[in-house]
Amino acid sequence: MMRTSNCGQLDLKSLDREVILAGWVDTYRDHGDLIFIDLRDRWGVTQIVFSASEKPEAHRRGKHLRSEYVIQIKGVVRKRPEGTVNKKLKTGEMEVLVSELKILNPCPTPPFELSEKLVSEELRLRYRFIDLRRKEMVEALGFRYRVSKIVRDYLDRQEFLEIETPYLTRSTPEGARDFLVPSRLNPGSFYALPQSPQLFKQLLMVAGYDRYFQLARCFRDEDLRSDRQPEHTQIDLEMSFVDEDDVMKIVEGMVAEVFEKALQVRLERPFRSLNYDEALSRFGSDKPDMRFGMELRDMNPVFEGSKFKIFEDCLSQKGKIRGLCFTPPNKQEFSRKDFEEMTQWIQNYGAKGLAWFRVAGPAKVESPIQKFFEEERIAKMVNAFGAKAGDILFLVASDVSTSAISLGALRVRLAEEYLALPPGKFEILWIKNFPLLEWNEEDKRYQALHHPFTSPKPEDMEFLETDPLRVRARAYDLVLNGTEIGGGSIRIHSREIQEKVFKALSIGPEEAEGKFGFLLKALSFGAPPHGGLAIGLDRFVTLLLGRESIREVIAFPKTQKGACLMTEAPSSVSPRQLKELNLNIRT
Ligand code: AMO
Repeated sequence: MMRTSNCGQLDLKSLDREVILAGWVDTYRDHGDLIFIDLRDRWGVTQIVFSASEKPEAHRRGKHLRSEYVIQIKGVVRKRPEGTVNKKLKTGEMEVLVSELKILNPCPTPPFELSEKLVSEELRLRYRFIDLRRKEMVEALGFRYRVSKIVRDYLDRQEFLEIETPYLTRSTPEGARDFLVPSRLNPGSFYALPQSPQLFKQLLMVAGYDRYFQLARCFRDEDLRSDRQPEHTQIDLEMSFVDEDDVMKIVEGMVAEVFEKALQVRLERPFRSLNYDEALSRFGSDKPDMRFGMELRDMNPVFEGSKFKIFEDCLSQKGKIRGLCFTPPNKQEFSRKDFEEMTQWIQNYGAKGLAWFRVAGPAKVESPIQKFFEEERIAKMVNAFGAKAGDILFLVASDVSTSAISLGALRVRLAEEYLALPPGKFEILWIKNFPLLEWNEEDKRYQALHHPFTSPKPEDMEFLETDPLRVRARAYDLVLNGTEIGGGSIRIHSREIQEKVFKALSIGPEEAEGKFGFLLKALSFGAPPHGGLAIGLDRFVTLLLGRESIREVIAFPKTQKGACLMTEAPSSVSPRQLKELNLNIRT
């Protein structure tokens, strides 16, 4: 037997028992005649003691141990001496006096200590097999597994079937670039790794497998950020004979159960919801963070007829002047330099400038542009925000969309930098009534806001050709603390409507037949009304745990450049492999 217990199991109930433990040397303290080691495994740590007076042979051998050695010991459980008890640990009142030691594998000095806080992420990823031994990582991966288990159990109770779909497939457009896999057996042809199982789950509905789910790996070749990976996992589900509310109700039940069982947090249901238009105008985002206020206000009425040229021009071009009111906590001072930096920064979001006013009283502000406005107008503005002395008003004048988006970004930045948002605060909501299409300026054509299989609202169908941007989609997104954690829709189940939507997307009949012929065929062979949703598991778990990046909840993530530093993927391949695949690399 390699061990009788694991390292997180023993307590005073095992007093005087002879036990065998195995694990890694976590900490090593040599007090001369006594050596204390914390022996670690996935379940915890147990203090083991080598005593020169009681077990001299074991003590002599124990002197050779170092960090991260893998060892097996035999010994007897005893009470820790007074003063060395650690009540926080299950194993904190006992220790094992070692009588026999076997070194199963030595270890060179590790590249970093497991307890070190400031290890570079690069080093952590290069030595991920060591990094994953850290308590935070063991906790994260354990928690992620528990979330998956709760989801599986819940969906099982709701009679969902877990069905796998192919990885080697044709491309499904989800708005990203595909990862391609060359086919050896079909020279010149490629598989695409799925950006999501979208079309397969719809085909399963056509086949009658009502209530499908899958914890599905999805592959997208897009620019990476802290909440994006080239491969991510979705809790993907689809149902037949449903409308938006049916899908949302199932998803709410699932998400609420995860919160309750994994975090002991009760969420109020039904979750609140906001229309897309309202989310944009009030929060400047289609994924608003509702943990704080700072709502955007329409300042057009206040500035009508003002003498300030930038505002006047904006109004005459049917633009919008929007503003938000920020109350700096702890009377935080902002210098002109701070405002200048923010003005530079907001230009990343398309705004040409940022107006700011430091409120000094009901009709008094300090600002480089205050001289352009009458006292009455200033009073109206301060009053519109309900602002108090010390508050700062930020205004952007631009087109309808840019004024909202740029101020929305500032709203989030101010909250992140200055408001200490308490950990464990969760605000979840649905965003509904998205437009079906958006205009892609680069390609000069409409594109689907979600994906091309999303159903338009029947009452908006008449605008599909005449006023495409007016058509709303039967789509819904789930937003947690300002992050989109899921999205879904009721799908098109009629061939005729699917063809019309393809047309609106400038996908001609030939291209549609070539790329999606199988879908169009299936839709004409008895497709039921259906809809579903997918939650990004990595993002969801990251937020539940309050971690900084999704890389913290993925065992083997990729860097921002899409590289795995441990295996050094992607890598070059041999000329022979390329030849087999009929590929030439151009240099
Ligand atoms: P969507 O593209 O919105 O929908 O994806 C669903 C959710 O997956 C997560 N996600 C990601 N997480 C990490 N890295 C990425 N690169 C990444 N991309 C997306 C997000 C997102 O909300 N087939 C549809 C779902 C449906 O309509 O049923 C789809 O894939 O949390």
